[in-house]
Amino acid sequence: MKQFISKREEDTIEFANRLASVLKKGDLIWLSGDLGTGKTKFTQGVLRHFGMEDQISSPTFTIVNEYRNEQAEIYHFDVYRLDDEEEFFAIGGEEYFEKGICLVEWGERIQSILPEPYIKISFEKTEQDLEERILKIEMIGEIREEIKQFLEEECHENFSD
Ligand SMILES: Nc1ncnc2c1ncn2[C@@H]1O[C@H](COP(=O)(O)OP(=O)(O)O)[C@@H](O)[C@H]1O
Ligand SMILES: [Mg+2]
Repeated sequence: MKQFISKREEDTIEFANRLASVLKKGDLIWLSGDLGTGKTKFTQGVLRHFGMEDQISSPTFTIVNEYRNEQAEIYHFDVYRLDDEEEFFAIGGEEYFEKGICLVEWGERIQSILPEPYIKISFEKTEQDLEERILKIEMIGEIREEIKQFLEEECHENFSD
């Protein structure tokens, strides 16, 4: 597992901004972690890369916000309120995965239907510093070489778990 240590909000946003430069349509990122750990800030960074940071999203359903311009389509899900996968299927949720770049907060709710490959990022607060976050990054399935290389350069190995 890899990790990135964020010392402040802007670190998280900028890390996501840089990662977004190697993301493409069809890429999927599961954002895991307690409330207030930075999952939405991370998403803001991805939007920044594509010049969509100030775009007002169109919420199709309450669980997904859509952003699009000539460069990309971004689907930002927060599935916290879903009880299970069935509810996600009911709104045609899985059709989004191939349409754009998808970021899914609380992906654990729909884990069994997340299509591989995907990146799982687990956000954790630390005891040392109120503004510090550890982003633990796992690559599930055959992640594209470009993404692997980015993570190789930008992250450290995490040996703790
Ligand atoms: N290093 C950091 N990375 C991200 N957010 C941070 C950091 N330090 C403090 N914060 C604060 O934590 C909160 C994270 O909020 P948000 O991204 O909405 O969390 P989540 O989506 O995980 O519930 C924001 O108020 C942000 O300013
Ligand atoms: Mg959030």
